[in-house]
Amino acid sequence: MFNFEHRFERLAPTSSWVVAPHEAAPIGAPAAQQRPQPQPLAETVQGRVAIVTGGATGLGRAAALEFAQRGVAVAINYVDLPERDVAAQALLTETAIRACGVPVYCARCDVRDRDAVELFVTAVRERLGGLHFLVNNAGVAHDGAVWRLSSEAWQEVVDTNLTGAFHCIQAVSGPMRAQRFGKIVNIASHQAFRPGFGIANYAASKAALIGLTRSAAVDLGPSNVNVNAVAPGFVKTDLLAKLPREVLERAEHEAVLGRVADPEDIARVIVFLCTEAARHITGQVIVVDGGLTLGS
Ligand SMILES: NC(=O)c1ccc[n+]([C@@H]2O[C@H](COP(=O)([O-])OP(=O)(O)OC[C@H]3O[C@@H](n4cnc5c(N)ncnc54)[C@H](O)[C@@H]3O)[C@@H](O)[C@H]2O)c1
Repeated sequence: MFNFEHRFERLAPTSSWVVAPHEAAPIGAPAAQQRPQPQPLAETVQGRVAIVTGGATGLGRAAALEFAQRGVAVAINYVDLPERDVAAQALLTETAIRACGVPVYCARCDVRDRDAVELFVTAVRERLGGLHFLVNNAGVAHDGAVWRLSSEAWQEVVDTNLTGAFHCIQAVSGPMRAQRFGKIVNIASHQAFRPGFGIANYAASKAALIGLTRSAAVDLGPSNVNVNAVAPGFVKTDLLAKLPREVLERAEHEAVLGRVADPEDIARVIVFLCTEAARHITGQVIVVDGGLTLGS
């Protein structure tokens, strides 16, 4: 199995946020031809600029810090959620990113609001000097048996998890196409393939997000923009804390690796998809679930 993690190192950020374009090897170059020294994967993202939506908490925070530790400037957005002090969490995350020595921008911005997303993306480019990676991580769940789901619960989840990602992809498409470079990673879920009870809205939104991933990959591929999805199994975040304890215990039991993921397990794969090692991967879904879906 390919293990990229050992090649990641904690790097000091570069003084400049401009990165030289990748130089491809000539077609048909003989295998024996002298090869350049392998470049540490972290260096292929260093100096870039990433947006992580919903980056204040949980998985988004882990992804934001994973980028920052590899010298990537990071922008995060968030909305307040009931019974959770997301604004305070955002401040903590912003401080932790800044402590990595990279520029950071943090703002309240609802991905359901197309105009607000446009303004946020413009502000990121102005403040951080560019835009290279987008991680569509913002997501909500609002569970209920399908015969009881309210229109509001359906709409809120689809508007956030699917339409929100669409708004963000659309807002970054202009600059990414113009610079002929970009990486977009959408956070789907194992529930898109193997839904549990009472999550019709969530499962539908994540399955549709995978459809959006594939079609955006087709549209943006000619502009050298990769679009992929990561489908985590259960991850130890506040979202998971809302689930009944027996669901978590069953998840641990059913995953062939016998554990539930830490947010960093997913974050490292997100960052990997933004490295040059992943430059020929597009339109794919990387399932990161410890083997949870193997039995289905
Ligand atoms: N935790 C898991 O087990 C798990 C498993 C699979 C997939 N996921 C996905 O991972 C992502 C992150 O989940 P998490 O577990 O870190 O949960 P979380 O609730 O901690 O994080 C979600 C974040 O999204 C933000 N957000 C919500 N609605 C928003 C909106 N309209 N605009 C902007 N930001 C908004 C919130 O402010 C919050 O910070 C979600 O897309 C979720 O569906 C989580």
